[in-house]
Amino acid sequence: MTQVPNIETFYRVFRDVSKTIHSSARVQEVLNLVTKKTTESLGAKGALLRILNLETHQMEVSASYGLSDRYLSKGHVSKEKIITDLCRLNNAIIIEDILSDSRIQYPREAWPEGIRMMLDLPLTLENNVVGILRLFFAEKRQFANEELNFLISIAEQSVLAIDKARLIEEKQAQYDNLAIQTEKHSALGRMAAGIAHEINNPLAGILLYSSNLIKKVPKDGILREGLEVIMNETVRCKSIIQELLEFSRDREPKKALSNINRIIEKALSILENEFRLRHIRVEKHLADEMDSIYLDENQIEQVFINLMLNAVQAIEDQGEVIIRSALESERNRLRVTIADSGCGIPSEHLDKIFEPFFSTKPKGTGLGLAVSFGIIQNHGGRIRVSSQLGKGSCFTVDFPLFPEGNRQANDR
Ligand SMILES: Nc1ncnc2c1ncn2[C@@H]1O[C@H](COP(=O)(O)OP(=O)(O)OP(=O)(O)O)[C@@H](O)[C@H]1O
Ligand SMILES: [Mg+2]
Repeated sequence: MTQVPNIETFYRVFRDVSKTIHSSARVQEVLNLVTKKTTESLGAKGALLRILNLETHQMEVSASYGLSDRYLSKGHVSKEKIITDLCRLNNAIIIEDILSDSRIQYPREAWPEGIRMMLDLPLTLENNVVGILRLFFAEKRQFANEELNFLISIAEQSVLAIDKARLIEEKQAQYDNLAIQTEKHSALGRMAAGIAHEINNPLAGILLYSSNLIKKVPKDGILREGLEVIMNETVRCKSIIQELLEFSRDREPKKALSNINRIIEKALSILENEFRLRHIRVEKHLADEMDSIYLDENQIEQVFINLMLNAVQAIEDQGEVIIRSALESERNRLRVTIADSGCGIPSEHLDKIFEPFFSTKPKGTGLGLAVSFGIIQNHGGRIRVSSQLGKGSCFTVDFPLFPEGNRQANDR
């Protein structure tokens, strides 16, 4: 019978394993150490550590020691086969008769390997079996309580390592995802800028030649109509290109003291025709007193135009757009809301609408909100949306009264 190692050996192994768990981010290192040390300190032939793959529900070999490649390649072990009893016992299980025990899935492969006895230790996390540590012995033997207690503690430590591995993997996946998104964003920006530059010049040429031609053709007639279409469509292309350039340039705002109400009025006057043609009633509730704040007027006007245009486009036939502005000094902000009685936004689109190129419109570029979002962010503000499908949407834009760095300028 194998001699039972003294408590000190167990203590040293335990200390080594837990030190590795805490000091190393590489879980594989811990698992290799666990199989090696348990084999050595119990005078076993080898050890195998399986971890449950949450997707395939298979117990996959994650580390082993002292076993031949031939034995290791015998195949996966299903969770049901190996685990059922473990959940009930939650303890070490000694398998004395490896040829007839139902827990052994490959008895015939074990015998020529020189294995005569096995010992299973479930690795449990919050009452779920997440893995198993199996020790293999070349002869039948008894186990002292110290040995079993030691193994149970090592199993607990291994679970910590597995849990840590899963957490690291999860975080890594989240980080990778974020990195891909960011890279995609900047690649799109670079691509957009490149395309925009290339297309801008030929468009200017088309516009120049068609406007020269139109002066030379008769006032009525098919030629003039055709040229008008060419010019209008070219102007539309140019404005899309301009938006692309704005988006990719992400330029710093040129700020001056400005009154938000005046900018709202200006945007409204630009879209006056649009509202009238579409039979849209506009309701305006602008704050009587409005502090002037530092803004890039052109950029903020562009934001309001984008939001109002979206509101107009969301309304099928008749409807209303309500625009409010409010000075909320106690909250250090100016608030503008643009609400419409349009089609609303499906909840699954809500977190996508500010992404560049997201559009549900046949002719939309999907840049309006992405550009607006960037502009408001550059002003230290915030833009949000609330929406009810079939009832309408409301965009809220908050501007800080005293953004960081502007406090002194505003105090003067
Ligand atoms: N007020 C609104 N009501 C309903 N849906 C809206 C509203 N505002 C935005 N959306 C949704 O968000 C999408 C993105 O809007 P965004 O302004 O960025 O692009 P777009 O309007 O499609 O194209 P453009 O670049 O011409 O503005 C829209 O296609 C639409 O699905
Ligand atoms: Mg838009």
